Amino acid sequence: MRALLISKWTKVAVFLFCLIPFCDLVWRIIKSNLGANRVEFLQHATGDWTLRFLVFTLCITPFRKLFKLPDLIRFRRMLGLFAFFYVCLHFLTYLGPDQAFDLSAMWKDVAKRPFITVGFAAFVLLIPLAITSTTGWIRRLGGKRWQLLHRSIYFAAVFGVVHYYWLVKSDVRKPLFYGGLVAILLLWRLGGWLSKRRSQAPVGVAAPRVSVSG
Ligand code: HEM
Repeated sequence: MRALLISKWTKVAVFLFCLIPFCDLVWRIIKSNLGANRVEFLQHATGDWTLRFLVFTLCITPFRKLFKLPDLIRFRRMLGLFAFFYVCLHFLTYLGPDQAFDLSAMWKDVAKRPFITVGFAAFVLLIPLAITSTTGWIRRLGGKRWQLLHRSIYFAAVFGVVHYYWLVKSDVRKPLFYGGLVAILLLWRLGGWLSKRRSQAPVGVAAPRVSVSG
């Protein structure tokens, strides 16, 4: 398994796999096969893939630990950057066809519609993560600060789910499904963090005894 995970061809294969949704969209655009509402189709497909890639990225750490596959880390950056790639496409399908590239109209919409506000907040949170995803930036920021900054992916995923939940009109099953996945992945981390804190607490430091006998 390790040989497979560290092979450069596996990385190439994962990269190509991540490009499939994009190629599918390009193919559909060429073939004019986007259904009755083309913009809605593109918005939904890119939104769905953003959320899926956020979940894939969040799965890496638990999977590394649960299945004892530390080399899975090789794919985390790629998956995170693909989440960012799809959210950029998602944002463009909104900014272009929806808002006609009118930035002032976009700001008004961001301020007016709560589901757009949280979606936009999630997008903004992902920008510094994409910029600082390189080894150079890890060195520049230092491991601890870099890790702290990259925890904002948790908020981006939660905001993404809230955005989805708020925008659907009736059938909330899909947003709830993603919400459940994100909740499990975040609770798993919280559990790990709490047990680490407990194990690091100083042992044998008892409260000072008060002697009544003087
Ligand atoms: C991490 C960030 C984001 C995630 C995870 C996300 C996810 C999603 C998902 C899952 C959908 C629905 C797909 C479906 O119905 O199958 C969606 C729809 C949509 N999103 Fe996002 N989104 C994000 C950011 C944004 C941003 C930044 C904007 C615009 C500023 C935006 C605007 C929209 C719009 C306009 C729709 C379609 C709404 C409708 O059909 O009425 N999203 N998004």
